[in-house]
Amino acid sequence: METVYDLLVILHFIGLASLLGGFLVQMRDTTRVVNPAMFHGALTQLVTGLALVGIGEAALDWDFDHVKIAIKLVILVVITVLVVLGRRKSSISTATWAAIGLLTVANTAIAVLV
Ligand code: HEM
Repeated sequence: METVYDLLVILHFIGLASLLGGFLVQMRDTTRVVNPAMFHGALTQLVTGLALVGIGEAALDWDFDHVKIAIKLVILVVITVLVVLGRRKSSISTATWAAIGLLTVANTAIAVLV
């Protein structure tokens, strides 16, 4: 089961790369959108994050920091709402685009530093 867990961690990194990459490639654009990389990256983070906690606690008997996980989950829910709502529009505001990127970086910092 540890192999499955490790594979999910790799997918978690791919989801981060997709979400942040989709944000970063628009740095110099004047019209910003929610691109497929951002949408699929956010969903990947949600699915792999929940699966990591589930497998870690249920099958591997590990104890996660639940406050840290809860904060990351709330931040990702906000990102996902912005991404899902923005995906239906032809463009999103710079503020919405920046919020998606900054919240993604915030979750990365919480994951590594806390
Ligand atoms: C935008 C959203 C997210 C980003 C950018 C993100 C980023 C990261 C990063 C960079 C790591 C590696 C930390 C390290 O090894 O030091 C990590 C690990 C982890 N993340 Fe996330 N994460 C996100 C969302 C979530 C969510 C929503 C959950 C759970 C509901 C979650 C659960 C976990 C778990 C359990 C680990 C530990 C993996 C391990 O080291 O064994 N993540 N995350």
